Amino acid sequence: MSDLKKIKDEFISKLKSKLNLSEVNQIKSDLFGKNGLVSSEFKKIGTIADTERKKFASELNVIKDELQGLINLKINEIENEEIKEKLQKEKIDITLPERPFVRGKIHPVSQTIDEISSIFSEIGFSVEEGPDVESEYNNFTALNTPDNHPARDMHDTFYLDDKKEKLLRTHTSPVQIRTMLKDKPPFKIIAPGRTYRSDSDQTHAPMFHQVEGLHIDKEINMGHLKGCLNYFIKEFFELDKIKMRFRPSHFPFTEPSAEVDIGYEMKDGKIVIGEGDQWLEILGCGMVHPNVLRNVKVDPTKFQGYAFGMGIDRLAMLKYGINDLRAFFDCDYRWLNHFGFDPLDVPTNYRGLSR
Ligand code: PHE
Repeated sequence: MSDLKKIKDEFISKLKSKLNLSEVNQIKSDLFGKNGLVSSEFKKIGTIADTERKKFASELNVIKDELQGLINLKINEIENEEIKEKLQKEKIDITLPERPFVRGKIHPVSQTIDEISSIFSEIGFSVEEGPDVESEYNNFTALNTPDNHPARDMHDTFYLDDKKEKLLRTHTSPVQIRTMLKDKPPFKIIAPGRTYRSDSDQTHAPMFHQVEGLHIDKEINMGHLKGCLNYFIKEFFELDKIKMRFRPSHFPFTEPSAEVDIGYEMKDGKIVIGEGDQWLEILGCGMVHPNVLRNVKVDPTKFQGYAFGMGIDRLAMLKYGINDLRAFFDCDYRWLNHFGFDPLDVPTNYRGLSR
């Protein structure tokens, strides 16, 4: 038997047995590699007598094609087999019953922030954000809050360094500063977010939420502030009428300043908002102090406006009948399941906020 025939028979029978991919690759290199059997036969062509050469070469080519074809076929076969096995292993049984899963709920504070944003966006406010870690300048100095102001005291403020240059913001008012520094008037924004004060009891948490409002334009006055807050309170509590009063107050960054109370009464041990002869303080506000405008390079003879700030947790407690602030931050799933909201029910003014 000629060498060629021997090679052919030997490898055809090898390729018929069960092989894996690396074994086939080994055969491939045994035959066609640099010193492979078939490659070596090709090198012999030059040494073969003229009369035999043509026959030898054509025979060799046929054998080469045949073996190469078989190898490709084998590789295909192995790959198909692998895919089949994989599909078999990863089969999903769609007839299996669904696994019981726990559905998440939206936290009442998140829900309240969404409601507030929706209400204000309806009358042209956009939403701004600022960082929890603030500079002393943005939190106090730029807001016309003097060095001896009690809010600066360690009892109230969490400072992050000995030099008292960095702190956890004590209110959302520094976002007023950030907003006005980065843009030109007019400004019409709200800024919800986390705030921190060194305080903790049933109605105070060291971390709580506020929303700031700021409207600066050419002819904004206290009347606009009243109209805006009245609209907000009515929308938020989903009431047609609400009793509300402005009480003179003091903030370093507004002049004049006021605190806003809403009327309520107790019925069967529950707070009913809107009517009654009891008053509940819900926010601070006022006309932005000219010094604040000057600090952010806004000319107070051309532009003026109002700002307000309110506690979001407090509003959520009132609206949803939650009486302990600390429960907000306990992460108790049972509590959240009871007071939380459906994630698919996004609050909008026209579809209803909380229903
Ligand atoms: N920043 C004030 C506070 O935390 C609230 C406020 C904001 C008052 C804006 C007036 C204007 O109590």
